[in-house]
Amino acid sequence: MPEQTIHLRPFETEDIKELHRWSNDPVSLLMVGRVPQTYEQTAQHVEKKRKNGDILLAIENEQNRLVGWIFLKDIEHEHGRAGIGILLAPEARGQGYGKPAMEQMIDLGFYQLRLNKIYLTTRGTNEHAIALYKKIGFVVEGQLRNHAYVNGQYYDTYFMGLLKSEWRQSLT
Ligand SMILES: CC(C)(COP(=O)(O)OP(=O)(O)OC[C@H]1O[C@@H](n2cnc3c(N)ncnc32)[C@H](O)[C@@H]1OP(=O)(O)O)[C@@H](O)C(=O)NCCC(=O)NCCS
Repeated sequence: MPEQTIHLRPFETEDIKELHRWSNDPVSLLMVGRVPQTYEQTAQHVEKKRKNGDILLAIENEQNRLVGWIFLKDIEHEHGRAGIGILLAPEARGQGYGKPAMEQMIDLGFYQLRLNKIYLTTRGTNEHAIALYKKIGFVVEGQLRNHAYVNGQYYDTYFMGLLKSEWRQSLT
């Protein structure tokens, strides 16, 4: 797949409307695991993340069209670590936006925030996301058994991590 050009900008309050649409998409509900949310609930979720000091960025493609959001959450400077999360618009998935967006956010985490480790959790059923994370260099550090209940079945959740020492020296 050709590498897409994307850029990250601050996630604005007016972007919540789109986030609300993406979050209620059937695949998102299955993979991220929330029940359908009202606009108000989505807005409260964003507010909670802002209060937590999470870094919320919008992903725009070459035509400056909003195609998703990406965030660093639970930033703990004492330990040099943060979690990462990404959600693309349903129509923007499978086109190569995820990888450059993750790479730019990881660069920001390692080279601006001086983090030492970036981690995430993902459901074992989310083969698409797992393929992307492995391609970037995340390794499975733990498997949480029967951790997610989806459509009447329990699935394992994977804890994946990436260390700064393992990351490409892109900015040097
Ligand atoms: C998961 C997500 C971020 C991936 O981003 P994306 O831009 O769609 O992914 P890409 O197109 O860059 O594909 C990445 C890799 O996944 C693999 N892949 C692509 N489509 C796939 C599919 N349908 N099933 C399994 N693997 C797939 C390929 O290996 C691909 O790399 P390649 O094309 O270079 O071989 C995005 O699809 C998304 O937002 N999904 C819904 C929300 C979600 O699941 N978030 C993550 C929660 S942990």
